[in-house]
Amino acid sequence: MIDLNEIQTIEHDVLVVGAGGAGLRAAIETSNLGLNTGVITKSLLGKAHTVMAEGGMAAAMGNVDSRDNWKVHFRDTMRGGKFLNVWEMAAVHAQDAPGRVRELEDWGAVFDRTRTGLINQRNFGGHRYPRLAHVGDRTGLELIRTLQDHGIHQGMDVHSECIGVDLLKDGGKISGMLAYWRDTGRFVVFRAPVVIFATGGAGKAWRVTSNSWEYTGDGYGMATRAGAELMDMEFTQFHPTGMVWPPSVRGILVTEGVRGEGGILTNSDGVRFMFDNIPERFAPETADTKEEGQRWLDGDREARRPPELLTRDVVARAIMREVKSGRGSEHGGAYLDISHRDSDFVKRKLPSMYHQFKELAEVDITAQPMEVGPTLHYYMGGIRVNAHSQMTNVPGLFAAGECSAGLHGANRLGGNSLSDLIVFGARAGIGAKEYLDNLSGSPTVQQEQVHQHMRGVTDFLNREDGENPYVVVDDLQKIMELNVGIVREGEELEKGIEELQKLKERVKKVKAHPTSQYNPGWNTCIDLRNMITSAEATALCALQREESRGAHTRLDFEGEREEGLTYNGVVHLTESGELKVRKEMRKDAPEDLQKIAHSTLEELEGNRV
Ligand code: FUM
Repeated sequence: MIDLNEIQTIEHDVLVVGAGGAGLRAAIETSNLGLNTGVITKSLLGKAHTVMAEGGMAAAMGNVDSRDNWKVHFRDTMRGGKFLNVWEMAAVHAQDAPGRVRELEDWGAVFDRTRTGLINQRNFGGHRYPRLAHVGDRTGLELIRTLQDHGIHQGMDVHSECIGVDLLKDGGKISGMLAYWRDTGRFVVFRAPVVIFATGGAGKAWRVTSNSWEYTGDGYGMATRAGAELMDMEFTQFHPTGMVWPPSVRGILVTEGVRGEGGILTNSDGVRFMFDNIPERFAPETADTKEEGQRWLDGDREARRPPELLTRDVVARAIMREVKSGRGSEHGGAYLDISHRDSDFVKRKLPSMYHQFKELAEVDITAQPMEVGPTLHYYMGGIRVNAHSQMTNVPGLFAAGECSAGLHGANRLGGNSLSDLIVFGARAGIGAKEYLDNLSGSPTVQQEQVHQHMRGVTDFLNREDGENPYVVVDDLQKIMELNVGIVREGEELEKGIEELQKLKERVKKVKAHPTSQYNPGWNTCIDLRNMITSAEATALCALQREESRGAHTRLDFEGEREEGLTYNGVVHLTESGELKVRKEMRKDAPEDLQKIAHSTLEELEGNRV
């Protein structure tokens, strides 16, 4: 048995896992509060799913429409989330977001400007007013660049290409984490009484996704193995517009900013089908005639919004319906057209989209329509956290950003992810400091625990024979696509869960070439443990929820049911290693917030609530 002293050990007060927007913002907060902070990132600094939030970050700054304020933003977020959001989180998010955006500006973020020099804001689905502070269609990238620069200068340590294996605990409290270096395969023990997960989602469990290779649900797997709970995992967002052609780029994001700048969706008959898909509920928020939509396109600010800017769940399902009815685009999507706008405008507002389509699909979006279709983009559910501190039920373990649950409820509004990262990343940092200030004693790392976790992943290298992990990943993606897709049905979900159970046994037996150095096969074996947990938790929650709400659509249970609002689906891992789902009754909503959410716009605009 290797002695603990022979394993590389790094000590921090706070270890942040993940260097996307939430992780970097949390690390900035903790280092600013005087805590020795380390950040580990699975790939290289700057490469995070955050950059896929291209169109902007939502904050009620009122720069473009002065009627906007936090209450309207809060109301929109609750409505978008079909009221399943954690009320306090949605309120705090809307209140803190403008200040966090201005802070980014102070730290050097270069936002697009209005004519009068204010931070410019654009329209996005489900947001009543132009609310997305943006940098062309590269907002996430600018956010990462800014946080990265600021964080590094503030003194946080970054450990790149370092991957978490499992959390370490002492008497129930976090004492650190076992990880390994992706290139050499060598283990490293991080001693830290606080670990903040900012590990993103698990989009790679599906075949068509905007997520890149890092998003394998590592936080979900490690957190559940350490005793934390997952919540609302059935709510997986399919962004309506991913690329569909050519096949090699299927799923890559086409920002909602295209529709925010006036892009329209048509089917193979040239019909703007979204006009036939306006839901009864909240319809007054959008345009209900083509003329209305045209007025909006013509820049009439009083006009209601075009139906292309309905929430993502509605648009994604509508595109799917067109394809299934034989009215899809040539390669099985819909047409998204912005060529009616001035070519310079398109290149200025959507430079990345212009280049993306030119280079990857040989399409000039200033002259031709794009082909787009739904792509798995985001987990609304995730690790269950305290709404005020972001701490999980495991003392010392915090979570922020996509990997945590609560803010978005049943469906996230576009642009609310970037603001989520900066608001709750900062709050997790503050929560961590409070926890450390009150912590008695210092949790220590137990040698036997480290060995046990090491064995859990070296077994993949040491066994005589076993299955190829890539084949298992492929099968996992097929199971999820067929049984836990954009629309779901009880029988399929049951079948999916049964197949996932069998797959779980296969995951235990995968094998990699017996060297830990530069071994992507071994990395994939390790990722698979987390992917299977994420996938199973998603399917279990989806089967439990017998209604259609937000991003979760059940063909056998159409429409929302009253009971659906009374609980959150919560998943935990039993001692015998089984994932169990239960209905956790929700607390009553705070009265003041309920009043705001159910007020009319006139009341909110006039600040009468
Ligand atoms: O479409 C987009 O630009 C994505 C934004 C988001 O997911 O928030």
